Amino acid sequence: MSSQIVNATRMTPTEAAPETTAFWPRDLVSIRDLSPQEVRAVLDLASLIKQRPADFRGALAGKQMVLFFEKPSLRTRLTFEAGMASLGGVSFFVDQTASHLGARESLSDIAHNLERWVNVLVLRTFDHATVETMAAHACIPVINALSDVEHPCQALADYFTLQERFGDLRKISVAYVGDGNNVAHSLLLTCAHLGSTIRMATPQGYEPAAQVVADAREIARETGARIELGCDPEAAVRGADAVYTDTWTSMGQERQVAERMAAFAPYQINEDLMHGAADHAVFMHCLPAHRGAEVTDAVIDSPRAVVFDQAENRMHVQKAILVLLLGGGMSRFPGRNAHA
Ligand code: CP
Ligand code: NVA
Repeated sequence: MSSQIVNATRMTPTEAAPETTAFWPRDLVSIRDLSPQEVRAVLDLASLIKQRPADFRGALAGKQMVLFFEKPSLRTRLTFEAGMASLGGVSFFVDQTASHLGARESLSDIAHNLERWVNVLVLRTFDHATVETMAAHACIPVINALSDVEHPCQALADYFTLQERFGDLRKISVAYVGDGNNVAHSLLLTCAHLGSTIRMATPQGYEPAAQVVADAREIARETGARIELGCDPEAAVRGADAVYTDTWTSMGQERQVAERMAAFAPYQINEDLMHGAADHAVFMHCLPAHRGAEVTDAVIDSPRAVVFDQAENRMHVQKAILVLLLGGGMSRFPGRNAHA
């Protein structure tokens, strides 16, 4: 089943259109929802969309997307909204930062309302279970736009950025230095699907979740990926093709900021640490960055940094995800674009 998706996304847009969604999973809650072939299909379709955006201009005409965000966002909100507009669809943003989803009425009731009005639901939540519950109840696709456990769209865009830069992802290694958080989890799982190598250095007590590591290792047994965990930033970075970090204090953890600043201080990405990476190594960050904390100005402002490529690619990758989830035809297949 998955090979049909891969084959379809390597064709021209018109050839690809009828096949792209036939077997696609209904939701994107976790990178675990995808197979290795499906992860590759996202990257392949994103590449096609990035190269030939005009061919996809009407792909989601008549489709409607709603975003409920319990946390702030610059990149995720705007890349979803701009991406949907460029595919011909429309978006509605619901600012949920003042009260959590489910506080006013049950998640299942919200889901059963939304599925009557719109075609896809994009959620940024504190609790991963909120995304899972909405996905379980809604009969429209649900996309995780960041929860406390995962940030799947980010990791897919990051590996797309690495593929653009280095080509074969099986030949490169990423050093992730910092918190074993939502971004780290999605990177681990995406790396595993793609047969790549990741070396992670996290302070004691801030390791990635054991279940995510176990799942990534299980996928890696199939794909040949290498997952190495430790606590030494220099060992992780040695010879790496990319050095990645994220904030030390994620949204929702603000009360822990003092203890986290102390625990993570030896994990800062600075020029000294970058010297241990390959000469051609890039610096990556999902943003927003806390300059002077997890990364110095000298590194993030250097030519090695690809942080704005990552930010741009969020849009191309999310457009691919929306087309795959919503069964978007291309502009030359207007009949496929009728409102469901
Ligand atoms: N990287 C990312 O998700 O950024 P926002 O929090 O601004 O959406
Ligand atoms: N780990 C960060 C990612 C922000 C895009 C957070 O959850 O706040």
